[in-house]
Amino acid sequence: MKKVADILPGLLSDSSKVLKRSEIRELLKFTRQPGVISFAGGLPYPGLFPVDELKDITNTVLEREGPQALQYGPTEGDERLIEFIVNWMREDEKAEIDKENIMIVSGSQQALDLIGRIFIDPGDPIIVGLPSYVGALQAFNSYRANFIGVPVDKEGMNSDRVEEILKEYSKKEKNIKFIYVVPDFQNPAGVTMTLERREKLLDLCYEFETIIVEDSPYRELRFEGQSAPMIGAMDKRGYAFTLHTFSKIFSPGPRIGWIIANKAIMDKIIMAKQAADLCTSPFSQAVVYEFCRRGLLEPHIKKIVNAYRKKRDIMLQALEDYMPKDAGIDWTHPQGGLFLWITLPEHLDAEELFPRAVDKKVAYVMGSAFHFDGSGKNTLRLNFSYPSEEQIDEGIKRLADLFREVM
Ligand SMILES: Cc1ncc(COP(=O)(O)O)c(C=O)c1O
Repeated sequence: MKKVADILPGLLSDSSKVLKRSEIRELLKFTRQPGVISFAGGLPYPGLFPVDELKDITNTVLEREGPQALQYGPTEGDERLIEFIVNWMREDEKAEIDKENIMIVSGSQQALDLIGRIFIDPGDPIIVGLPSYVGALQAFNSYRANFIGVPVDKEGMNSDRVEEILKEYSKKEKNIKFIYVVPDFQNPAGVTMTLERREKLLDLCYEFETIIVEDSPYRELRFEGQSAPMIGAMDKRGYAFTLHTFSKIFSPGPRIGWIIANKAIMDKIIMAKQAADLCTSPFSQAVVYEFCRRGLLEPHIKKIVNAYRKKRDIMLQALEDYMPKDAGIDWTHPQGGLFLWITLPEHLDAEELFPRAVDKKVAYVMGSAFHFDGSGKNTLRLNFSYPSEEQIDEGIKRLADLFREVM
């Protein structure tokens, strides 16, 4: 008698066969071993979640609008939250947008999936960074995109290389469908794209008739310096779609993000979302809206920024103090966000070193996990938001010991 596992191969879609488990999730198992200091996750610090405020806010929401908050809601999202976001984006980002340009999504991860769904046919070329956020690679891979990699350096994605690729593809049958970029404090490298490169990327899209997917979950977490404008706000022709989220500035649990897009495409995005989950949780949206309405968001972001700045500083200082000198080890100095990126000398492989790091009770994510082509073997990502200040210092000491041993 056949079990279901025996008949599945003949039933599964081709798309499901390309699905891969996230290497990072697999790695997280090791990081749960007792005593391991983990720089591997990408989680916000839970001690900063506004639990006490939310006790009162959830009560208010249930008393004021319980039945409505527990009912299905419009696919576009809660009108009040949309209006709050429109005013915020207009004021802080100088984005020329209206309510029709916003849709609330179940985390920006859902926006990545919806974008994949409406733009990618199997084999379609899209440009992604080397390295890139793994969740985006997973989402686009599930629609069987053909990834074209562009190096990301300390100034963000290399727009000269983007130009070469767009020129090359303009002569081919299939145009590049979109360019995926995380311009602010990129996950994983922590780098921010310069104004010049943002301008060039947008001009290239106009010239070669493709669009930009600007994924910006860390933009509000700036510790110092000046922000370059959001690409979506620089764009006056609707070529850039911007994804934002409350995950890093509030908490990821409610799963509330938003997508800013041109009206010309919004209908398609709404239909794709209807098929995916009908609507984003009205209860979560009502809670997030009430938090914002009470004026709590801005001071909360300030609190997070202060805490993460301190942790970033401790990590940078520890790297300075403990890493072997003149050994060809380089790291980024993120001006915000959650991550820092280390580049080792070419001959070292962060994947091979990983078990030895775990033996020393410290964990990271190997950079190759963020390269769709498996390159970047001598790189690794460190997260500084989740570990405590003491753990950051001790963990970097352990990493430095490991690197000293293998050099
Ligand atoms: C670059 C990037 N995009 C999207 C996401 C997903 O965020 P959300 O919780 O809003 O789905 C993350 C989460 O880490 C991220 O780093």
